[in-house]
Amino acid sequence: MSLELSAPPQPAPTCANDGVWLECIECGEQFAPFEEIHYTCAECDGLLEVRYGDPPTFEDFEGSGVWRYNAALPFEKGVTLPEGSTPLHNVPRLREEIGVDNLRIKHEGMNPTGAFKDRGMTVGVAVAKELSVDRLACASTGNTSAALAAYGARGDMETLVLLPSGKVAAGKIAQASLHGARILEVDGNFDSCLDIVQDLASLGEVYLLNSLNPFRLEGQKTIGFEILEEHYNDYGKYPDRIVLPVGNAGNTAALYKAFRELVAGGALDESEVPKLTGVQAEGAAPMVEAIENDRDETRRWENVETKATAIRIGNPVNAPKALPGIYNTGGTAVAVSDDEITDAQRDLATAGVGVEPASAASVAGLRKLRASGEIGADESVVCLTTGHLLKDPDAAFEAGGDPEPVANDTDAVLEHINAGQKGALGGIAQKVSAAARSAGVSALVGGGIGLAYLAYRQLRSDSE
Ligand code: F0G
Repeated sequence: MSLELSAPPQPAPTCANDGVWLECIECGEQFAPFEEIHYTCAECDGLLEVRYGDPPTFEDFEGSGVWRYNAALPFEKGVTLPEGSTPLHNVPRLREEIGVDNLRIKHEGMNPTGAFKDRGMTVGVAVAKELSVDRLACASTGNTSAALAAYGARGDMETLVLLPSGKVAAGKIAQASLHGARILEVDGNFDSCLDIVQDLASLGEVYLLNSLNPFRLEGQKTIGFEILEEHYNDYGKYPDRIVLPVGNAGNTAALYKAFRELVAGGALDESEVPKLTGVQAEGAAPMVEAIENDRDETRRWENVETKATAIRIGNPVNAPKALPGIYNTGGTAVAVSDDEITDAQRDLATAGVGVEPASAASVAGLRKLRASGEIGADESVVCLTTGHLLKDPDAAFEAGGDPEPVANDTDAVLEHINAGQKGALGGIAQKVSAAARSAGVSALVGGGIGLAYLAYRQLRSDSE
């Protein structure tokens, strides 16, 4: 119903606060936005969306970052670090190799905590303040917890994060820890963590800041506004397609919402809306399964596995918002292997763009869909890279080249580089991980780069 691309603007109902209200995407029930806490519909438990009586146009936007788009947000400004205004990289060699008319990389890893989550948190934490809650919480594959910890700290609020034990990349735990979150490691996957944190939220113990919270997606939809504006400035047209990694499907839902709002405000024609194309890892692909079977809901995968731990998710809670986004824009979804993800991560790194594995899934998916002909050579494509390389130092070590030990002597260094002995210590990265594991220490929890480097030095001194 209301998730149609052509849905007309709605008049604000009496429960609206300054033209803003919450509405159930299933039954249409409407709620005041800040009187009580609602995550899902009190009538039917459907997902809620933030709605506005006055849809935005491009002329309404001024300033920079997420809050440039405050005409399309519930507040003028929130707790900010600041976030948004991320680069839209040109990658000409990769574009040529993949074979599309135009390819840009929207690098969300350049946000303050290194992932797109900051856009959601700047709005989400502002709402938490408005509601006068004091304890914020989330389940997370890592990035949400890092962002929540940083924005919670900035907003002077208590933060609690639930993480799947042993499955969160080192950089992300380090961030949550240093920014002062209380970290609870659950013996289960992300989906179980989210079940628990939802229970805590419904008991009133915590304010939930996962993307189930509709206000988070308000911040994240600004990625869509930024891409459209910058692409239009550069080429006088909007991209044909946006390819993005999918986990809980929050971004897919958020980008679609940005486009719907611009269409409702008459700023964007339906024919100009980019095709939303989701990419999942083969070991965690319930959205792809739904799209391939033409279904409008996902089936929960109990067992998920992928090297791209950020998207190791079997029950994408935002699927009811995201699937219409993919169908109604003429997009699609595709699953890629971990090896394809690593190849894409290396390719991006070669172009100077450092991303974590989940982010590289977008480029891996583009390559696969281009090879199969589903994406045409004449398309202008934007790939979203969602997190920074340093988020997952262990994955970077594994995908990258190995350090070469040399003597503490210029002549010896010269001789070494001229002899071209690159990779003389082949396999050191694997040895490092093995050493860390055999020491019974999780390199993930223990702190990635630091630990891996110490293990590497230990190996070196052992071999000297
Ligand atoms: N890429 C990265 C780097 C992520 O951290 C996530 C989600 C996604 C993609 C998927 O985005 O959920 O909007 O489809 N990470 C969440 C977390 C689940 O807890 O950090 P989505």
